Amino acid sequence: MWLWLILVLSALLAISLFIVLYLRNKHPEPHYNWEEIDLNAISFPEKFQWGTATAAHQVEGHLSNNWSDFEEKNDFERSGAACDHWNRWKDDFDMLTNLGLSTYRFSIEWSRLEPTEGTWNQEAMEQYSSMIDDLLERGIRPVVTLHHFSHPIWWEEKGGFANRNNIPSFLNYCEKVFDALSDRVDVWCTINEPTVFSTMGYTLGQFPPGKRSILLTTKVMKNLMRAHAEVYHSLKEKKPDAVIGLAKNVTLFDPLNRWSPIDWIVSRILDYLWNGAWRKGILKGKMLGSRIPKAKNSLDFIGLNYYTHFLTGLFMPTSTEELEFAKRDHEISTEFGYPMYAEGFRRAMEFVSPLSVPIEITENGVADENDTLRPEHLKRHLWIVSEAIKDGFDIRSYHHWSLMDNFEWAEGYKMRFGLHAVDFDNQQRKLRKSGKIFQDIISKNG
Ligand code: BGC
Repeated sequence: MWLWLILVLSALLAISLFIVLYLRNKHPEPHYNWEEIDLNAISFPEKFQWGTATAAHQVEGHLSNNWSDFEEKNDFERSGAACDHWNRWKDDFDMLTNLGLSTYRFSIEWSRLEPTEGTWNQEAMEQYSSMIDDLLERGIRPVVTLHHFSHPIWWEEKGGFANRNNIPSFLNYCEKVFDALSDRVDVWCTINEPTVFSTMGYTLGQFPPGKRSILLTTKVMKNLMRAHAEVYHSLKEKKPDAVIGLAKNVTLFDPLNRWSPIDWIVSRILDYLWNGAWRKGILKGKMLGSRIPKAKNSLDFIGLNYYTHFLTGLFMPTSTEELEFAKRDHEISTEFGYPMYAEGFRRAMEFVSPLSVPIEITENGVADENDTLRPEHLKRHLWIVSEAIKDGFDIRSYHHWSLMDNFEWAEGYKMRFGLHAVDFDNQQRKLRKSGKIFQDIISKNG
């Protein structure tokens, strides 16, 4: 009897050891000795595009949408005037020119254009149109995101992306914007960070609508994929040479203890839900048990947003209050709490490369009010991009998040991601040291 028990336990131990060894080998977690790397040894192709990114709700100000409503109802810090960019956009675009940028990613605010269902605000559309003319005059390529976390209240009340029947009205909005701007805008992101939107809004409850249900989360994930696919095909039909993609946040999930089978299981499950299921949707037209045939190959480029890796273990947080960001001993924490892990940027590129489309880095940056970490953060991440290009990755652009400090969603104005610091009392903008470093790198293209 004892002998059997010992035999069974030893077999189980051997199997888990085998699995852990296999996973350790299949998913390495490289850490470089940054002291030994010459971060100045970077170079970029002549046509490489340098940019920054923003999103409407975070900069425009005075919006009435699902987010402002959520801020009020949950007594979150209010976005309010944000950067008052809706009024100051010309001056803000001077900052793009001053940085020497050739591309700028920003989003269109649906709630401005269609504040109540079926009523269209032509003036707002004209302003977006003027913004695009102005960018083009400056020699800056506009990259337009159609949905960056915010949408009209009336649409949220109908269930937003949780209700599949709402996709046609989203499509209608996208088509309207496309009809008005696609004579001048070539590059489009349908949806920003579908996994962040669905997890934060429907699992962790920190984004609107503040729900906490795994079932709803998967439903929203699938509807986002359906919506993206519908928009992709409809816009391509209108203009076959439009370049349409989406911005995917690739967060890596690594086991806290690389010898623990449990930590490995948790990290693989989360990685699949966050990254793998989504990639499968695009590659195979199937996602989380549903067939979404139109999603297959519905990308002309992939927008890659990269920030960090999460170290996961048995303890799984179910709300952001419980969310503690673990880090390796030698890793540096960012102000957001998660570690700076530039090595993961390369892994994120490797993750998206089976999609076989060009990569645009649509976001990368760090919360750092005093700009103590951002210079190093920027240099490390740009070194990774430069090396990846040398190794054959087709990376077309790098958009730093963000042009200026802005409203950081559930974190309010606490987190400062800007190359320009913003004083929200008087709306003064000031180029940070890291902004000057970026400007210098851009001027030398390396
Ligand atoms: C979002 C941005 C956000 C940034 C920094 C990304 O997930 O697209 O809107 O501000 O991360 O947290």
